[in-house]
Amino acid sequence: MTTRTFPKDFYWGSAASAEQTEGNQHGTKVKTIWDHWYDLEPNRFFDEVGPSETSDFYHRYKEDIKNMKDFGHNSFRLSLSWARLLDESGQVNQEAVSFYNDVIDTLIAHDIEPFVNLFHFDMPMHLQEQGGFESRAVVDQFVDYAKTAFSLFSDRVKVWFTFNEPIVPVEGGYLYDFHYPNVVDAKRAFQVAYHTMIAHKKVCAHYHAHYDGKIGIILNLTPSYPRSQHPSDLKASHICDLFFNRSFLDPAVKGEYPEDLINLLKDYDHLPKTEPGDKALLKDNPIDFLGVNYYQPRRVKAKAHTPHPDSPFLPDWFFDNYEMPGRKMNVYRGWEIYEKGIYDIMINLRDNYDNIDCFISENGMGVQNEERFIKDGRIEDDYRIDFIHGHLTWLHRAIEEGCHVKGYHLWTFMDNWSWANAYKNRYGFFSVDLKTKNRTAKKSAYWFKQLTETNRLTK
Ligand code: BG6
Repeated sequence: MTTRTFPKDFYWGSAASAEQTEGNQHGTKVKTIWDHWYDLEPNRFFDEVGPSETSDFYHRYKEDIKNMKDFGHNSFRLSLSWARLLDESGQVNQEAVSFYNDVIDTLIAHDIEPFVNLFHFDMPMHLQEQGGFESRAVVDQFVDYAKTAFSLFSDRVKVWFTFNEPIVPVEGGYLYDFHYPNVVDAKRAFQVAYHTMIAHKKVCAHYHAHYDGKIGIILNLTPSYPRSQHPSDLKASHICDLFFNRSFLDPAVKGEYPEDLINLLKDYDHLPKTEPGDKALLKDNPIDFLGVNYYQPRRVKAKAHTPHPDSPFLPDWFFDNYEMPGRKMNVYRGWEIYEKGIYDIMINLRDNYDNIDCFISENGMGVQNEERFIKDGRIEDDYRIDFIHGHLTWLHRAIEEGCHVKGYHLWTFMDNWSWANAYKNRYGFFSVDLKTKNRTAKKSAYWFKQLTETNRLTK
């Protein structure tokens, strides 16, 4: 039997987001792009289930936090809802303040460190109407929202994140049509990406000037493995890495964009607009802590065909996705499972990003129809245990090889509403009965409890 011991004070827990768990309780918050898109096109959501109810964390957080404690959490990442905290005129919603205060206090009372994220795909609709992150004015509104959140909660919250997976609203909303506003326009996409980074930096600058905790960003890093060592495949994977990893990782950690990315966008006349002072802002405000979300690798090959000159310019002009024969799949989500990817990401951070302090902020496995696996009232999710075990084995090796990994959070604590996939795939340690909202621990929750109590992974 092999035993792997994790460092003392390792952060064990899970992650969730406001829009996916709170429920919107019309009247207590303003509409987000998700409420709006669901009103317009409910057919874009699996089984036409929208964001209004979710798992009702808003009313059940005390029970949920107690469960977190009972099942081995010493930390938990949640996000605040911008649309809940501030109304359309920017006034603070006192009901929201009471709610978040109580959530934070309850976590702390259970010795669970709150990791608080400010933005998880949930742009308030009235700000989207003003241009969303295409608009510099909305960037400033985001900074005001962050300042408000810090002034209200940073006496107790010491670990903050600005954005979760900031590239996803860019991909979904402005390149590939899987988030509102369903635009396909790379120029606008790159402007949104750039402004998101400017917003992140402005918030970091404010935080570092006034507070003494840690602030970071959460990035979904997907290694871009080339099909082969052929120079054309290597070039395809390099460009893919520039677009999908380094476009946020480099400015967040190194304070500048990769030269190759700038040159490529210049060649295609797709550079975003910048303002005087941006360069210094980007350079001067590195993060303290990086969250890494990892679900799947990306495999790419050189393009087989020249893109049609009239088709919209997209990152995919430079690579094709590659389906490696024999790859292991999560067939429900259509994502490859490649545990070693987590190790490769960490080694890259160690060797090329100054071994920045980081943690796994999301990793997990969404499975459809989990009721199939119920035995004696409990979902026997051995596949999830295997999934976590496999990733932790590689993560442990990265730690042994000197990577500064400080924790592991599963996505997610309890089954939640998952954007356009709604409740198709379930990810939680706890299942949620959508009618009664009752929560039941799955087998993986018991397994995780034992892991975190001993701090040891055994097999
Ligand atoms: C991450 C997001 O990308 O993946 C979560 O941060 C999301 O919000 C999770 O729920 C799982 O993805 P999906 O599309 O299966 O819900």
